[in-house]
Amino acid sequence: MSLSGPALSLISLLLLSATLSQAHDTVCIVGAGIGGASVAHFLRQYSPSTLNLTIRMFERNGVVGGRMATVNVSGETFEAGASILHPKNFHAVNYTQLLNLTVNSPSSDSGGFGIWDGEKFVFKTLSVRSKLPFVDRIVSLANSLLLFVRYGYSLVRMERFVESMVNSFLKYYESFETRPVFESVDEMLKWTGLYNLTARTLAMELADAGLSPLLIQELVTVITRINYGQSVSMSGLAGAVSLAGSGGGLWSIKGGNWQMAAGLIDRSDVVLHLHEEIESISSIGENYELNSTLGSSYTCDIAVVATPLDELNVQFSPSVSIPKRELQHTHATFVRGLLNPAYFGMNSVPEIPDLVGTVEDPDLPFTSISILKQHGGKDITYKIFSRKPMAEAILDSIFSVRKETIRINWGAYPHYTAPEVFAPFILDSQHLYYVNAFENAASTMETSAVAAENVARLILSRYFGSVPVNLKILSSSSDGGGVHVDL
Ligand SMILES: Cc1cc2nc3c(=O)[nH]c(=O)nc-3n(C[C@H](O)[C@H](O)[C@H](O)COP(=O)(O)OP(=O)(O)OC[C@H]3O[C@@H](n4cnc5c(N)ncnc54)[C@H](O)[C@@H]3O)c2cc1C
Ligand SMILES: *[C@@H]1O[C@H](CO)[C@@H](O)[C@H](O)[C@H]1NC(C)=O
Ligand SMILES: *[C@@H]1O[C@H](CO)[C@@H](O)[C@H](O)[C@H]1NC(C)=O
Ligand SMILES: *[C@@H]1O[C@H](CO)[C@@H](O)[C@H](O)[C@H]1NC(C)=O
Ligand SMILES: *[C@@H]1O[C@H](CO)[C@@H](O)[C@H](O)[C@H]1NC(C)=O
Ligand SMILES: *[C@@H]1O[C@H](CO)[C@@H](O)[C@H](O)[C@H]1NC(C)=O
Ligand SMILES: *[C@@H]1O[C@H](CO)[C@@H](O)[C@H](O)[C@H]1NC(C)=O
Repeated sequence: MSLSGPALSLISLLLLSATLSQAHDTVCIVGAGIGGASVAHFLRQYSPSTLNLTIRMFERNGVVGGRMATVNVSGETFEAGASILHPKNFHAVNYTQLLNLTVNSPSSDSGGFGIWDGEKFVFKTLSVRSKLPFVDRIVSLANSLLLFVRYGYSLVRMERFVESMVNSFLKYYESFETRPVFESVDEMLKWTGLYNLTARTLAMELADAGLSPLLIQELVTVITRINYGQSVSMSGLAGAVSLAGSGGGLWSIKGGNWQMAAGLIDRSDVVLHLHEEIESISSIGENYELNSTLGSSYTCDIAVVATPLDELNVQFSPSVSIPKRELQHTHATFVRGLLNPAYFGMNSVPEIPDLVGTVEDPDLPFTSISILKQHGGKDITYKIFSRKPMAEAILDSIFSVRKETIRINWGAYPHYTAPEVFAPFILDSQHLYYVNAFENAASTMETSAVAAENVARLILSRYFGSVPVNLKILSSSSDGGGVHVDL
């Protein structure tokens, strides 16, 4: 690692504070998803080994990973929650290398995609299954043409809109020299110019970008429904992020994305408390007291909440105030069996697209149905997303054969509205931090990592710098290694 000026400044600052106080400090992290795991990782990466830091992590489940989890459908595992990563998710890319994980290459299947309106497919690509690569290429070209015929030049405008959002997001990977530590989500979003996208709905933003109403009502709606279970009335930023998650080059971790959290926790010298739910966080003098459902009590210098607080029953003392919001629930239903072609007005199963998306219609019982694995012509594993639980009777009408059915009800991501109001990263003006405040901008594995990296820097500058230190201010001195803190 090559240390630039500001990194050196930070480290000398930490060394100074460690030597001055001879202190031992405890950071307690609630939640072992990618957010909590990333806070632990960046705290270790950015602090010198001489800093005597204990990191405790609490996880109510028996496994780490949170919303990155696999499901076992008749002996085979599939992603049950977060499944895809964008090629420019650079923290995830680095985690993969660091942890020596194997990547599932982007699949180039041409199994077909269709938009279902409850009665018919309003749009359907070709689905010629072939082992010959040139046939695949011709099919995919033909499909691009079909899309172009229906949606026209608006598709190019959509691509530009997404590209511009992704390029702004890349600023969060800049070095410490140019990238400040952000004390609030608002400030963090304004710095990249993404804040405005959270103030208006996706539909408004796309209309302004010149997209046709047909594209917004059909393809865009299908994508926001699949990725966030919501309509184009969601905020523009989360909407743009969901569109980015429908492009090319998407990837995942072989064996499960949860291994990113597991690997980071393993190599960050964390005291991990599984099956231990935190019930209360009380500020007592200079410390925090965390009480768990096991009846244990822990004293921490710094407390980090790395899970959404919206549906949690954690008792804060003194109380903290965050904007009220709801989580969008996504019911993921896994079925091994066979779809009933008659339900879709078709004669045979292969005519049904591999990915069935839907338009916004409250009467539709499902949001999407996709093939996870084709075992044989009449034996397929499917994943269904829906806003409400899938009733047995509806499953019976959609499927002609059902050998196994598994249901998961996810408190999946925020229900996005515009304009968005953000909770603070610093919940109490002292050392109680909230990583998932950033989730109201957009919820992905990568955004959790980006928020966690900022929170780790915030902790190091605010706690170990004694006074609020802005690394940007530190970096503005070019005399190298000088400590610029008012002690
Ligand atoms: C169905 C679905 C599909 C998705 N698809 C994608 C996708 O394709 N790509 C993508 O990037 N993102 C996707 N996401 C979003 C992604 O999963 C989340 O943004 C991300 O995993 C959030 O990570 P986190 O660490 O912030 O929170 P979580 O993963 O929710 O971790 C929080 C952890 O805290 C624990 N916890 C909560 N309360 C307590 C307590 N009181 N005490 C102790 N532990 C507690 C929880 O058990 C959990 O393990 C999807 C989500 C869902 C549900
Ligand atoms: C770190 O602090 C703990 C608790 O005070 C102490 O037991 C341990 O010896 C310290 N380790 C180092 C390397 O100073
Ligand atoms: C899946 O579940 C089955 C039945 O409960 C079990 O026998 C099998 O070991 C599990 N497989 C995996 C990969 O977890
Ligand atoms: C990823 O790792 C490389 C090499 O260690 C580093 O230069 C780069 O800044 C890292 N990227 C991010 C986003 O942290
Ligand atoms: C990385 O993983 C590969 C394949 O799983 C393995 O062969 C290799 O030894 C691993 N390398 C390290 C450094 O762990
Ligand atoms: C955001 O909106 C405000 C007010 O409408 C405007 O002044 C500003 O230029 C916009 N910022 C960006 C980056 O578009
Ligand atoms: C936490 O536990 C301690 C020790 O049992 C107890 O004194 C304290 O009242 C508890 N705090 C809360 C908020 O329940």
